[in-house]
Formats: sequence, structure tokens, C-alpha cells
Amino acid sequence: MVRAFPVQIAPSMMCADVWQLAEQVRQLEQAGVDYLHFDVMDAHFVPNMPVGTVFLEQLRVHTEVPFDVHLMVDNNDFFVQLLAPIGVQSISVHAESAVHLDRTLGLIRSYGIKAGVALNPATPLSVLHYVTEQMDYVLIMTVNPGFAGQRMVPSAYRKIRDCRLFLEENGVEVPIQVDGNVSFDRIPHMVAAGADILVTGTSSVFHRDGTLLDNIARVRQAIAEGLRMRHHDSHQFA
Ligand code: DX5
Ligand code: ZN
Repeated sequence: MVRAFPVQIAPSMMCADVWQLAEQVRQLEQAGVDYLHFDVMDAHFVPNMPVGTVFLEQLRVHTEVPFDVHLMVDNNDFFVQLLAPIGVQSISVHAESAVHLDRTLGLIRSYGIKAGVALNPATPLSVLHYVTEQMDYVLIMTVNPGFAGQRMVPSAYRKIRDCRLFLEENGVEVPIQVDGNVSFDRIPHMVAAGADILVTGTSSVFHRDGTLLDNIARVRQAIAEGLRMRHHDSHQFA
């Protein structure tokens, strides 16, 4: 059984230009991106705090694009209850900060919001074992979380592939989201390895050398290349 999800684009809004935000959101909408990805950090689980919940609240009324929130906080339940009334469509929490991961995933779902488990690069996939029924997607961090502009960790491709195999072996049909240094050159390899949702920041959609629309077109080309590679690999090992 090979999972087949359309590869989706989730621009990382911490990388947007605040001074051009309205125009950039309009362009992202026009370009048909699938989500807006918001990194909500408490400056404690990770030493940074790029966007707050008021930012999402104010943006919510101006766009229909689904909001995908990546929580990098110590108190996940507090932020889930803060975000739910805003109208977000998915929330991922880090397994490393969730003392009661199963309960927190259930809390997210109780609001009708999709629940994701985020894993730091060093965290083994085994933490997913007993929450596969509670999760709607897995977020594989391909950098150490907290900052834009970092380099992908060496184990990233292997971990995406291992995650895809883990999900297939356990009959869990959920997409894999990847986040961090999702660049034009790395996208084909990430998609070939099994990535389904691409969190795209300064390495691609918000790359300073191109316009948003040109960058998104380049991302789409890279996705097509990755799907060709994935198709070739699946034939090779069939
Ligand atoms: C990292 C953030 C991402 C991402 C930004 O914690 O979650 O949003 O790294 O994109 P890049 O890595 O391309 O600047
Ligand atoms: Zn993120």
C-alpha cells in the first residue's frame, strides 16, 4: 500500500516581509498555496518568538487560506485553547514538549482541528507508535527548530524515508510534513523520500533572489521532479 497524497505547499509566514504582508498574502492566495504555516514559539521551548496569536487573529479575517500552526512551546494545551477560537485548521505539537501527547492530540481534535505530531531531528519515530490513531499528520523537522535560514540536518532525507516506511508498515495513511531549509534543490529529494506537505521559507518561496510568484513556480517544478524520482524509485524497488 503506497500512500498517495498531492504534494502541498505551506509557506512559512515567519519569513514573510511584515511591511508587505497584505500584498504577500494576496499573492500566496492567488498562487493557490495550500496552507499558511505559522511558527508559534514561546521563547522557551525554542529561543525565539517570531509571531504571536494576535498576528493570526488579525490575519484570519483577511484570507480564506487554511492556517497550519506549528507549536514550539512548553505549554501546548494552553496555546491550543488560545488558537482554537481564531479558526485554525491544523495544529502540530512537538512530542518532546508534550508530557501528555495523546491527551493533547485529542484536545486539538475535540475542536475539529487536524492534529499533527512534530519531531525534532534527533527524536526517533518510535514516539509515534502509540498515537497513530490520534494523529492526522507527522511533521519531520529537517532543521533544529526555532529559526529560519538554517541548513538541513544530515539525517533529514533518511528520516523522511524511514517515516514513510513506518507509516506504511503500520497502515497509517497520513501525510508527512517537512519543515526547515526546504530549498529548490532539496525539494526533489524530500518529495522522493516521501514528503507530502512542504513548509517553505527563506530557502524557496520567500527566497530573496526571486518574486513570490516565480519562487512558487520553481517550487512546483521541484515537486514535479521529486514525484518523477519517487515514481522511478518505487519501480526500482518494486
Ligand atoms: C524553523 C521554521 C521554518 C523554516 C523557515 O523552525 O519552522 O519555518 O525553517 O524556512 P527556511 O528554513 O527555508 O528559512
Ligand atoms: Zn514550522
